[in-house]
Amino acid sequence: MISNRFSVLIVLTACFNHGLDGSTLSFDNGNFHVSWRYEKDHDELHFELNVKAEGWVGFGFTFTPKKMNNYDVIIGGKTRAGTPYLNDFFTVGLTTPVLDLRQSYMLDMASKQDGITTLHFHRPRITSDSEDIQFNMTTSVFILWAYNKIDDARDPSSFSKHSRKGYSSEPHRIVIEAIPTVDVSSQDSTKLTTFHLSTPPLATLKPAKALGFQLNLSTMTIAIAFTLNLFVQLVLK
Ligand SMILES: *[C@@H]1O[C@H](CO)[C@@H](O)[C@H](O)[C@H]1NC(C)=O
Repeated sequence: MISNRFSVLIVLTACFNHGLDGSTLSFDNGNFHVSWRYEKDHDELHFELNVKAEGWVGFGFTFTPKKMNNYDVIIGGKTRAGTPYLNDFFTVGLTTPVLDLRQSYMLDMASKQDGITTLHFHRPRITSDSEDIQFNMTTSVFILWAYNKIDDARDPSSFSKHSRKGYSSEPHRIVIEAIPTVDVSSQDSTKLTTFHLSTPPLATLKPAKALGFQLNLSTMTIAIAFTLNLFVQLVLK
């Protein structure tokens, strides 16, 4: 019976582990990685960027990806002196982005380690600012990415241009209706015996390189769980 219960636990863990990690996309041959999640309880969007850059990191959305018109973007990073920063901009063409009068994005964490800049930030889904894109369940936007390999953008009125930039080949839905679920897994999906009943903060998302492995692991867990379950059922008969 213990093994039967154990196998059920594995199945649950495997199923709940999916989806809660939100959506992820990778750009620039894996140099720019984004994960995001819609937090239904607070009606907020939470983002994590992992970028192979020591300078500023830019990210945002637009309906019109050509020529930097109407981009809702943030630019953030951590200075060499260790000061984290994040600013909310709107673009009006091929020139330095203009700082929004109202700053709707909030930085939760910025780090720079081994040449990788990581940013955690969030915003309300509806910011009621005409310089931000407002999201509903059907809103589909192109995702913008950019970064400077060296220079920071601590001063939002004067910073150097991107080293590299681009946008998604197709529009993406940002708010994906999620049924509220309970997470029975934990940060470490390999430790099946440790679990807690809470939604992990985005901060627990694995860095870019680990994500692929984590997904594979989830699929593997499901496969193992079903095999185990079948086995247990056969044995108990
Ligand atoms: C959802 O947002 C899009 C723009 O992103 C808008 O065109 C559409 O009317 C909105 N739908 C609802 C139901 O508000």
